Amino acid sequence: MAGIVVVDRDGVEHEVEAKEGVSLMETLRDLDYGSPAICGGMCSCATCHVYVDEASLSRLAPIQGDEKELLVELTGYKPSSRLSCQVQFDASLAGIRVTIAPDE
Ligand code: FES
Repeated sequence: MAGIVVVDRDGVEHEVEAKEGVSLMETLRDLDYGSPAICGGMCSCATCHVYVDEASLSRLAPIQGDEKELLVELTGYKPSSRLSCQVQFDASLAGIRVTIAPDE
């Protein structure tokens, strides 16, 4: 486990212990204010959409083609958008800050 900051849809910040060795989505979908992650991480629903803070973004592995294709179709897409199911989380990402994107 490693600490991250999650900002919910009401703008409230939460310090969360994130699971390592799995996708970030696995932590976020367990939170009451987190992501529903309806497709279970198959990169097909985009309900795990988060915005990653600028300072944290460069610490993540680069976005891949399938993820980008799905993200750019969203109304709420921003350059800081990521699908949390496509972000593998480990201790090197401790301290990142993500915001749960609006429901679409
Ligand atoms: S959980 Fe469905 S795209 Fe990430």
